[in-house]
Amino acid sequence: MQIHNLVDWPTQLKTLRAWRDQGRIKYIGLTHYAVGASEELLRVVAREKVDFVQYALSLEEREATDRLLQVCGDRGIAFLANRPFGGGGALRKLRGRPLPQLGYDSWAQLLLAWVLSFPEVTCAIPGTSKVEHVRDNLAAARKPVPDQALRQEIELAWRRSG
Ligand SMILES: NC(=O)c1ccc[n+]([C@@H]2O[C@H](COP(=O)([O-])OP(=O)(O)OC[C@H]3O[C@@H](n4cnc5c(N)ncnc54)[C@H](OP(=O)(O)O)[C@@H]3O)[C@@H](O)[C@H]2O)c1
Repeated sequence: MQIHNLVDWPTQLKTLRAWRDQGRIKYIGLTHYAVGASEELLRVVAREKVDFVQYALSLEEREATDRLLQVCGDRGIAFLANRPFGGGGALRKLRGRPLPQLGYDSWAQLLLAWVLSFPEVTCAIPGTSKVEHVRDNLAAARKPVPDQALRQEIELAWRRSG
């Protein structure tokens, strides 16, 4: 169960903890939709133990890599990466650009692989309205998780093409 966008989170957290104690829910998390909200999330995460945080992470929106990812990792908090394509903008920039030969079948898979390469990230949640894109995105999950060297190669390809 996620507290969306930190709306009245002290009240919500109390309710959700009671529900967890009663066995009604299993995991409690916090989300935010706004780029620039990571400091606010950090303040809450530093004092409250939650099971997961959901925030934007993509090659285009990297604010979470400043501190949020690391703090989540240190505190054993799972990280759900939303907007892994920057809301679609990252893929639009790459349209028509040749795909680098790094073992992935599409730019979407490469962008997802980059997100999943951070050890703190436990899940990426791309949005799509097309079945073929669901297939494409799921295929990225069946490939090996990139190591740091491959992550850097993907960043390089992004800088050259984006
Ligand atoms: N907690 C929060 O406050 C919060 C905030 C933001 C987002 N979210 C959640 O995060 C998830 C993702 O966010 P999002 O949908 O805004 O951004 P996104 O996943 O970064 O981008 C979605 C866009 O990428 C396109 N796309 C997806 N797969 C593709 C593929 N394989 N090839 C080409 N294009 C592809 C989609 O177009 P098509 O429809 O044409 O595939 C869509 O335009 C959603 O579930 C959303 O609810 C939560």
